[in-house]
Amino acid sequence: VQYRIAVLGATGAVGRKMIQTLERRNFPFESLKLLASERSAGETISFAGQLIEVEVARPDSFEGIDIALFSAGATTSQVFAPEAVKRGAVVVDNSSAYRMDKSVPLVVPEVNAHAVDHHQGIIANPNCSTIQLMVALNALKEFGLEHVVISTYQAVSGMGQKAVDALRSEVEEWRQGGRITPTLFPLASQDAHYPMAFNVLPQCDVFLDNGYTKEEMKLVNESRKILEMPELKVSPTAVRVPVLYGHSESVAVRFQQPVSPTQAREKFAQATNLVVLDDPSQAQYPHPLMAEDTGETYVGRIRQDLADPNTLLFFVVADNLLKGAAWNAVQIAETLIQRA
Ligand code: A2P
Repeated sequence: VQYRIAVLGATGAVGRKMIQTLERRNFPFESLKLLASERSAGETISFAGQLIEVEVARPDSFEGIDIALFSAGATTSQVFAPEAVKRGAVVVDNSSAYRMDKSVPLVVPEVNAHAVDHHQGIIANPNCSTIQLMVALNALKEFGLEHVVISTYQAVSGMGQKAVDALRSEVEEWRQGGRITPTLFPLASQDAHYPMAFNVLPQCDVFLDNGYTKEEMKLVNESRKILEMPELKVSPTAVRVPVLYGHSESVAVRFQQPVSPTQAREKFAQATNLVVLDDPSQAQYPHPLMAEDTGETYVGRIRQDLADPNTLLFFVVADNLLKGAAWNAVQIAETLIQRA
């Protein structure tokens, strides 16, 4: 069977990776439709040796589509997902619009592929930081997860292509004169801007009333939903760093029992699409540049807490545009096909 696919947000940082991933995976497609806003109508993108023209997304665009991959922001998803579903498409949505909706599965295929079976037209792709954390935590689930303390080091590409361009120009501005005029970071929509180049900003997305950012609460709420552990304790801090691609996470997990690094390393090694890179004597550990353009999640720096044998510390890295977004979305589409 071959599928008629649409990518909404085809010109964006994630959309382009979705197209590339479909090509690399040899996805069984009959046709591929590329959709974006009027800003990019007429632009062409190459796919499997052909040039495909980008079309303006309209409700009718989803006529005759089997699977639609969305990555055009939450507002755009809210407009087009019901239209696509009405026309018989299954939507894999990378935005936050439907993630916490009870009727929408939130899926990391290595962790909860079974959740796909209950979809009602929309399947949500989790937040990038959550996905890689899930791949690592799932491997240790049988030790009894109690409390997860996580600090992230997130790449700017998580804010879209414009953020990649903005960091590059800040570096260029600095090279030319040393002064950076900040306009985008940490968030385009707020008045206070700070340089991102040569800096670290403890704000990803907007602040909520509880003093946490939206990104931090995604780590809490999405983890609980995916792991099916509504009571799991999660203490998150989400930080933006001047990295283009690849999120890193420093994680401390308290278990219901003592867990040795050797036990954890064994479980990590058995997990699908998880690579253990953990040899301090060779200075071997994951970092974002080595993870770039790969679909795996990497874990290293595995060690026991100095004060508490029930707590393990480790470092998790993945390409946020691939495992954190495009690759996970294509994996969901593949899971959907396999389980149909
Ligand atoms: P466009 O390039 O035409 O603006 P990123 O996350 O890198 O910023 O990309 C966002 C993606 O979502 C782009 O492909 C963008 O298209 C698309 N997009 C944004 N708003 C809309 C909209 N209202 N309708 C369709 N596509 C949209």
